[in-house]
Amino acid sequence: MAESAPTESPEPDIATTSTNLGFGVDVGGSGIKGGVVDLDTGELVGERFKVLTPKPSTPNAVAGGVAEVVEHFDWDGPVGITLPGVITEGVMRTAANIDKGWIGTDVYALFSEYLGGRQVSVLNDADAAGMAEDAYGAGKGVDGVVMLLTFGTGIGSAILINGTLVPNTELGHMYVGKKEAEHQASSRIKEEKGWSYEKWTEHVSTVLEAYEALFWPKVFIAGGGISRKSAKWIPLLTNSTPVVPATLLNTAGIVGAAMAVSQGLKT
Ligand code: BGC
Repeated sequence: MAESAPTESPEPDIATTSTNLGFGVDVGGSGIKGGVVDLDTGELVGERFKVLTPKPSTPNAVAGGVAEVVEHFDWDGPVGITLPGVITEGVMRTAANIDKGWIGTDVYALFSEYLGGRQVSVLNDADAAGMAEDAYGAGKGVDGVVMLLTFGTGIGSAILINGTLVPNTELGHMYVGKKEAEHQASSRIKEEKGWSYEKWTEHVSTVLEAYEALFWPKVFIAGGGISRKSAKWIPLLTNSTPVVPATLLNTAGIVGAAMAVSQGLKT
């Protein structure tokens, strides 16, 4: 009869790590961030890695940064990539907060060239964050329409119903009163105007009221950098629909990008 195994040396964590891994890269205004994603849990495996977004943020310069992030991990599998604009039929159509040279760029041809011809998926940054939050974060288990909004340089939006994304909703550009939503309620505007949370949330509430009157989501998920301070401002909102903070925070875009390529998503 064999003796029972000694217990003093526990198995390393890697033994419990899933083999269902993916890779995502999130392209933002200040950084290009990527990492290996455990698609069973929606968590990063190890640290994320970031390079600064080149200035100007032209397609070739950004694609070079994305390749650097992927090479850092020696990752040779499929890669999901987010961009802050509309992507339809594999082409970037808008560039509100990134170099205008992106407009009309075939983003699949571009990233395939920089990443050795491997499989890629390229999608809107807020759509990726919405997919991740809906599957693993604040939207998990919500039955019905979930709307994620990212408050940053602009306002990004994602609408999902029971896990299915309606891509490229671009609600940050909806006119609410005389201005586009992101020109009155992004966190950039708060900073530029030196507004308090009280003042800024008046504008955010107005924007949320306009969205809820048209889309009637079950919940708004508030993402973007300022969601880290959600305790300071979510309680000040006066709109009707519940607003909950994103829980994946700075990994949501990476996780959503990895999900997208693992699903073969093409918007
Ligand atoms: C862009 C969106 C993007 C959002 C957040 C907006 O200005 O039009 O595509 O999701 O900013 O980056």
